[in-house]
Amino acid sequence: MTHFKIAVIAGDGIGPEVIAEGIKVLNFIASHREDLEFEFTYFPWSCQYYLEHGHMMPPDGIQQLQEFDAIYLGAVGYPGVPDHISLWDLLLTIRKEFDQYVNIRPIRLLEGAPNVLINGSKENIDMLFIRENSEGEYAGVGDRLFKGKPEEVVLQTGVFSRKGTERIIRYAFEEAAKSHKSLTSISKGNALNYSMVFWDEIVEEVAKDYPNVPTASYLVDAAAMLMIKDPKRFEVVVTSNLFGDILTDLGAALAGGMGLAAGANINPERKWPSMFEPIHGSAPDIAGKQIANPLAAIWSASQMLDFFRYEEMGKLVIDAIEEVLVSKQSLTPDLGGTASTSELGDALMTVLQRKLQ
Ligand code: NAI
Ligand code: MG
Repeated sequence: MTHFKIAVIAGDGIGPEVIAEGIKVLNFIASHREDLEFEFTYFPWSCQYYLEHGHMMPPDGIQQLQEFDAIYLGAVGYPGVPDHISLWDLLLTIRKEFDQYVNIRPIRLLEGAPNVLINGSKENIDMLFIRENSEGEYAGVGDRLFKGKPEEVVLQTGVFSRKGTERIIRYAFEEAAKSHKSLTSISKGNALNYSMVFWDEIVEEVAKDYPNVPTASYLVDAAAMLMIKDPKRFEVVVTSNLFGDILTDLGAALAGGMGLAAGANINPERKWPSMFEPIHGSAPDIAGKQIANPLAAIWSASQMLDFFRYEEMGKLVIDAIEEVLVSKQSLTPDLGGTASTSELGDALMTVLQRKLQ
């Protein structure tokens, strides 16, 4: 029996609504397996918590989370608290403190998912983005001088260490080698003449250890265009923190929208907990209405199952998502249906039930 302790930070807005469905799915799977058990511990950390306590999580928040096997996060951010506070004081702090330096975002257009491309199909849109998650353009290094004065100067520094750059590129090569796929690196060496020249050099260095992995390298602007015109050429993709952030939202649009986009923040050494989340935000415009699409949160639960080495269960969840999409029954409004968040969750459980019998 493997017992996994999960810290749940449901957060703001639709976060708690979608996370509830993911937990339903995880518990359901555990109830069908004698070797698997989940224990969920809920943390109320959110913007509401911030307004009451003056911080997004208590000063010993990181110590509290340390003992868990994983963190399951909904979304944080809400009108009334500046976004840079909710992001830095919770999400980015957790990513940094737990050295979750790999951000994994599957961009797969499942059968039945909303498709926006003329050439979009399950075969053509099947990418795995590996985004650097600990430094780069989001290192938080910089300064703001002469605030409000005519001579004001603002600096935001990109930080690319050899260790940080090499480990993410190596992780991506390992992933490509393991899955017999090509690796594409996305950078911008022509304009970013220090950081991205360095990035490209490290890609070439590491590539020598993987002679059997076909590799390609694109400038980020060209890559954005090619993701639309010829998505098939992207299989495993590695890129920096900022470029990955932007391109994976583009990817989310290619793969059925925000309601289907999941992301995992991984500490590959498993020294610290990894964190699993839908990549959408708290969606204040639809919060509290029970119409949010829970499939992204459920997809991130499947990434958690993969990470816990229950890959066959993770795959089962993705297959179930695909089946509900194809059936067109019980879909939420963003997918063209009229079902509520929990009705879609229940429909998925019905499919899972059948598959597990
Ligand atoms: P958002 O992702 O919350 O919403 C963008 C649009 O997509 C909205 O129209 C929303 O209704 C729709 N949408 C998002 N998720 C959906 C779902 N599961 N089902 C159906 N429709 C969905 O992004 P927005 O509006 O820019 O940000 C809102 C708040 O969330 C902000 O405070 C922002 O900082 C925060 N945020 C937090 C993130 C996180 O915790 N990882 C990520 C992105 C934003
Ligand atoms: Mg983003």
